[in-house]
Amino acid sequence: MTNRIEEQYLDGLYAPDKELERIQQRIKACGMPDISVEVGYGRLLTMLGRMSKAQRALEIGALGGYSGLCILRGLTGERKLMSLELKEDYAKLAKQNLEEAGFGNHVEYRIGAALDSLAILVEEQQQYDLFFIDADKENYVHYLEYCLKLAHKGAIIVVDNLFLRGRTLDPNKQGPSVQAIRKFNALLAQDKRLETTMLPAYDGLAIAIVR
Ligand SMILES: C[S@@+](CC[C@H](N)C(=O)[O-])C[C@H]1O[C@@H](n2cnc3c(N)ncnc32)[C@H](O)[C@@H]1O
Repeated sequence: MTNRIEEQYLDGLYAPDKELERIQQRIKACGMPDISVEVGYGRLLTMLGRMSKAQRALEIGALGGYSGLCILRGLTGERKLMSLELKEDYAKLAKQNLEEAGFGNHVEYRIGAALDSLAILVEEQQQYDLFFIDADKENYVHYLEYCLKLAHKGAIIVVDNLFLRGRTLDPNKQGPSVQAIRKFNALLAQDKRLETTMLPAYDGLAIAIVR
């Protein structure tokens, strides 16, 4: 992934993170897409969990477990991550990676379309302190509604890829995921149920607190 020179500069100041690098290498070796959350936002996920004293987190889109590890590192107390992933082989690799990082007992994967898993989590009356939405963009609006059902006041919702690698801002791009993310971004900015900010580094990240 090519980042801006400013991002490269700041990322270069940090010591390499061996555990996260190993996950990225495995993702590549398995032929999976190189679309884990960016390194600086991974650190932010850890910090948001720690700052808010989050114990239970929900992630939508696991890939190889990169963001899962970042989230788990920041959780406290019960330290539970529920991770929703469409593809069984991705979830398997993510689980293996988190087991090796010492978090095997702290993560549960639910495989299949996240909308189905979310409906079940609502039925189970689960609650989470921290959410990370990072899957198919067409469903972001629905994912947010589900997160709100599973959240309490003060819970934090983080959403990645607001720019879709520049396509969000390109008027020539009108595909379904581009239209969906434009709609999502506009709705999020006006949503009275949330206090939000949107960060323009990397691929764009929203952070929201449930009012
Ligand atoms: C951007 S990647 C997630 C990256 C991961 N959060 C990280 O930073 O390490 C998006 C993931 O969402 C999954 N996904 C796509 N559509 C999905 C759906 N409908 N339900 C659940 N997962 C889905 C993909 O298989 C992929 O693994």
